[in-house]
Amino acid sequence: MKNKKIILGITGSIAAYKCCELIRRLKDKGAEVFCVLTPNAEKFITLLTLATLTEKRVYTDLPRKEILRDEVKTGEIEHIDLARIADLILVVPASANTINKLSWGIADNLLTSVILATDAPVLIAPAMNSAMYNNPLTQESIARLKQIRGFHFLGPVKGMLACGDGDIGRLIEIDKIVEKTFTIIEKKEKSKLKGKKVLITAGPTREDIDPIRFISNASSGKMGYYLAQEISQRGGKVILVSGPTQTPVPEKIKTFFVNSAEEMYQKVKFIFTSLDIFISAAAVSDYRPGKKLSKKIKKEIKNLNLTLVRNPDILLEMGKKKGVITPKILIGFALGDKNSLEEARKKLKEKNLDLLVLNPPEVMSKEETQAYFLYPDKKIVSYPKIYKRELAVKITDEIEKLV
Ligand SMILES: Cc1cc2nc3c(=O)[nH]c(=O)nc-3n(C[C@H](O)[C@H](O)[C@H](O)COP(=O)(O)O)c2cc1C
Repeated sequence: MKNKKIILGITGSIAAYKCCELIRRLKDKGAEVFCVLTPNAEKFITLLTLATLTEKRVYTDLPRKEILRDEVKTGEIEHIDLARIADLILVVPASANTINKLSWGIADNLLTSVILATDAPVLIAPAMNSAMYNNPLTQESIARLKQIRGFHFLGPVKGMLACGDGDIGRLIEIDKIVEKTFTIIEKKEKSKLKGKKVLITAGPTREDIDPIRFISNASSGKMGYYLAQEISQRGGKVILVSGPTQTPVPEKIKTFFVNSAEEMYQKVKFIFTSLDIFISAAAVSDYRPGKKLSKKIKKEIKNLNLTLVRNPDILLEMGKKKGVITPKILIGFALGDKNSLEEARKKLKEKNLDLLVLNPPEVMSKEETQAYFLYPDKKIVSYPKIYKRELAVKITDEIEKLV
């Protein structure tokens, strides 16, 4: 973990003192540790202890309250700087309050702001009274953070709690946290995607009818954006070409926004030859109006006939160039269920794909999905119920095998 920058978020839990051992262990492995405390954490552990152990300035709430040691580059926007320098963010111990806030994107102190702004992997070790942990709201927050943001969770475990209960809620052993930290960083360090140029298309396309009307679909772009996030976290150089969406684009990802299928095609063609991997996750409209009217269609027209013409099949066109001109790895998506498997298999072959992910149409814009992975050797793997964030990890793991 030499020179790896680890942000250690500490919250208002009685287990905060255990951080001292964690800092020592991480530093023994060569990591640099930057402590960020919630205002409540300051009541449980002293800044002096943390600054001495980390040999660094300790970061407290917004606006900056106390500086014990001047360290690292800091600009005016502290939470963004910290979010950017992090190789990994740990929240140890994580209180119920902070977990619940994080799951709703609340950024009301330095730690929650850093986590909302980061693209780095986040590992959370909760510690709390068992009733707080078992509360359905806390459970829902943990599930949301895992599914929507791909956060890692460790523990809590059963054992004697400060409140006198002997149930679940105790902070997991520091050894396990160090081990998991190491595994996450190693996954990133050893990833074969490091430095690979990856183009991902995402979202719907919009085919204009007149200056204000268009044909489109319900794609939210989430699948492509989650893939961009995951691949970038493993060190890939990701470029996103996205249709118009309401979904926020992940931090640090170079993104080009396009409107129509034709625009998307032109952009992809332009970037294609310099790529290692192409992932087509966009829901490209198959058809567009034959001509775009320059003036708004008047409602006085009683019956309106719209002639639609075929749009370019971007993936098919790119599939023809695969291997001749880079990239060598092509991944595609198709809409359908188990009745469409045969058709999907044809598509995989026709488009020269290494992996085709088949999703049912009703999952468009949802977080949860169902998926079949189809491979050229006719193998099929089914995921009956999976969150798109988790699916992005599985797809990226498959890509790692192909590189
Ligand atoms: C002595 C004491 C111990 C506490 N221990 C915990 C704990 O282990 N876990 C937890 O979730 N909350 C614990 N709390 C409650 C939190 O400190 C409280 O919810 C606070 O708002 C958390 O703020 P933060 O998440 O911004 O740090 C404790 C409170 C006190 C007074």
